[in-house]
Amino acid sequence: AAQTLGELRTAVEQFGGCSLKAGVKNNVVCDGAFHAEVMIVGEAPGGEEDAQGLPFVGRAGKLLEKMVATIGLSRAENVYITNLIYWRPPGNRDPSPVEMQTCAPFLARQIELKAPKLLLTAGKFATQAMLGTEDGIMRLRGRKLRFTQEGLPAPIPCIPMLHPAYLLRRPEDKAKAWDDLRTIAALCDELNVPRGAGL
Ligand code: URA
Repeated sequence: AAQTLGELRTAVEQFGGCSLKAGVKNNVVCDGAFHAEVMIVGEAPGGEEDAQGLPFVGRAGKLLEKMVATIGLSRAENVYITNLIYWRPPGNRDPSPVEMQTCAPFLARQIELKAPKLLLTAGKFATQAMLGTEDGIMRLRGRKLRFTQEGLPAPIPCIPMLHPAYLLRRPEDKAKAWDDLRTIAALCDELNVPRGAGL
């Protein structure tokens, strides 16, 4: 029922229906430019995110920031960032299907309220959950897909990206991520989504 992103954040903070919450320091809801037209959806907070209460502020987050900065996107100016899950899974394990389903209505409402022009899903979990597919991330990355949801006036263009935590483990795949960023930059321009000059 949240009418604004601020109300939605409060609703997540007050929510008692996810068992992950018992073991965390902070809720990690969202961050970034309020009016951004690009929305990045990641997986779940890690240790640094839990400590700071902000998404993508640890090592993977720093790499994500560097990646999108190359095409003139930043959370200070034109990107809004959230996750599938708002509480850190213990030991950074994968989020469970129940946890993803529990958090899904909050994400759906964030998308309705934010109405981004472009969605970027980071990694397998966000991509599969949002696009309702079991196809692998290597097959879907860099493709121009469409996100649909009941109540949205039109599908939202969506491009899956390799997760920055994966790229930290497999730097040899960074060239693929760079190709995908070029696709993202071109689609931003096609959609008249503002971005800076890039690097
Ligand atoms: N990985 C994610 O998917 N999200 C975060 O917020 C941090 C790391």
